[in-house]
Amino acid sequence: MEVFIKPTYEEMCKVAAKLIADVVNTKSHAVLGLATGSTPLGIYRELARMHREEGLDFEHVTTFNLDEYAGLPSDHPQSYHHFMHENFFKHINIPKQNTFIPSGTTNNYRAFCQWYEQQIKDCGGIDLQLLGIGSDGHIGFNEPASSLNSRTRLKTLAESTINDNARFFENRDEVPIYAITMGVGTILEARQILLVANGKNKARAIADAIEGPVTCMNTASALQLHPSTIYMIDTEAASCLTMREYYDWVQAKKPDVPQA
Ligand code: PGA
Repeated sequence: MEVFIKPTYEEMCKVAAKLIADVVNTKSHAVLGLATGSTPLGIYRELARMHREEGLDFEHVTTFNLDEYAGLPSDHPQSYHHFMHENFFKHINIPKQNTFIPSGTTNNYRAFCQWYEQQIKDCGGIDLQLLGIGSDGHIGFNEPASSLNSRTRLKTLAESTINDNARFFENRDEVPIYAITMGVGTILEARQILLVANGKNKARAIADAIEGPVTCMNTASALQLHPSTIYMIDTEAASCLTMREYYDWVQAKKPDVPQA
């Protein structure tokens, strides 16, 4: 894994967006896994700017979102369908039929989840999966005690996640308690992972994910088993890391030779 520690949220987003743009530019028909939440907002803003000002082209890109609240229709202001449209898709030239987001209103969750997994396979798999992390270490909505082999499924949210996400709703009772999420096993099949985190409230989860044991109690820790994971975090999110100087040293001393 590689750990990049950036001084500000803006810089973190800029470098993360550049990595995503590189995949879009170099791979024809790139497949991106996308995340919602407040962390990736700056990345979507930067990618939209690159589209507007530099011609970054999404016409042949396909996207798969990690998750969606169960029970929220796609036009609900807190649905992840709405979030993606407002914060990203409407600002770029991606065809609507290329954007996949789990349905929050299917009447057959099991069949829908199988279909979603099949769509990812049919598109050739995800080239780069963007992830945030919950304060409890979750990726997607894979809460503590999720199987590290899990697939896309209906999941009950943890209380800490409901509390964290209550800020987006009028009151806490409105936060759905179920969601469809890609599984940890689904996420691990992406060819490359880019996890972004900022702020002090992520510091413990980040340290446990990067330096702790692989455990279902912090599902991001499963990324230690992935061959190509990049952590892009700000200094506050890095504040509990014990190997911080080493990560900076690695970036400063990167060999200037092509890597196999
Ligand atoms: P946040 O959520 O970006 O809003 O902090 C991250 C997550 O829960 O995965």
